[in-house]
Amino acid sequence: MKRVLSGMQPSGQLTLGNYIGALKNYVTLQHTHDCYFMVVDLHAITVPQEPAALKEQSESVTALYIAAGIDPAKATVFMQSHVRQHAELGWLFTTLTYMGELERMTQFKDKSEGKDSVGAGLFTYPSLMAADILLYNADLVPVGDDQKQHLELTRDLAQRFNQRYGDTFTIPEPYIPQVGARIMSLDDASKKMSKSSTNAGSFITLLDSPDVIRKKISRAVTDSGREVKFDPQAKPEVSNLISIYANCSDLSIAEIEALYEGQGYGPFKKELAERVVALLEPLQQRYREIRESGELYDILRQGAERAAEQAEKNLRIAKERMGFLVL
Ligand code: TYM
Repeated sequence: MKRVLSGMQPSGQLTLGNYIGALKNYVTLQHTHDCYFMVVDLHAITVPQEPAALKEQSESVTALYIAAGIDPAKATVFMQSHVRQHAELGWLFTTLTYMGELERMTQFKDKSEGKDSVGAGLFTYPSLMAADILLYNADLVPVGDDQKQHLELTRDLAQRFNQRYGDTFTIPEPYIPQVGARIMSLDDASKKMSKSSTNAGSFITLLDSPDVIRKKISRAVTDSGREVKFDPQAKPEVSNLISIYANCSDLSIAEIEALYEGQGYGPFKKELAERVVALLEPLQQRYREIRESGELYDILRQGAERAAEQAEKNLRIAKERMGFLVL
């Protein structure tokens, strides 16, 4: 069975972009693959986090994984910091990564732009991400489009290690959705929908109430035309909403276009909001049940145990190949 690994940062509420770009695929892949899904708290601290908020978000993201449909009996669900091998292999990979490679990363450029002081961890972030993936010899990594560059670097680092020290790591492939790989902001379709945006109207979180969702979608920016047509170049805002619609229904882009032909944006946006509400309401119900049940810590304990077993095996092999004294 092929192996899958992926993760999300507990650095804010998960958005519809996180769901469509990645989480939805986690849920599908668990039925056919050996899956590892983690909450990457060590990555979240590459930008300052309030301790109480980090703790709350870490619990919240874990609960959202389960609420979205990940079955902890099928997939291994764990917290990155609970499996110490991530930090250890992360360091080994930091020493294999070139400064020039890290300087080219667009996520680093975006997150450091205009800041006076930037933590060194933000710079070496991709080396830890490579370790996350290679530690389990993952074949597939479900992510949104914005993580493609990090995946490329992971593949380069795996190849570099294998060339230097002998065949050790599987070269992973990204698994990116055809529609919805990059969900854009509701207020500006040139920017990706992001949980760290300062304008709450620009994103929909998985925990937004039905009324908030309706309001945000009705206020979403659209062009001055009225044709519901998928054309990302000429109509980026409407195309973004169509991508969201397609992911919240069983309809294809062509079917959505046909459904709203000649009707204008009003009915389209109204129905889109109802589709999003229908998707998120049951998820939110399960989320509340999971948080109240107190089962999260048991899930995380079991997940960490299963993950650490795999991780330790592969870390030992890597260390031996590099020439460390392994007891
Ligand atoms: P993060 O926490 O920023 O995002 C989690 C996942 O959601 C996807 N995503 C989106 N997809 C479509 N449209 C959007 N607007 C959108 N916003 C976010 C991201 O592509 C991602 O798949 N570096 C990773 C976390 C990570 C990781 C890993 C991922 C750490 N180690 C190992 C895979 C494997 C990140 O920052 O994701």
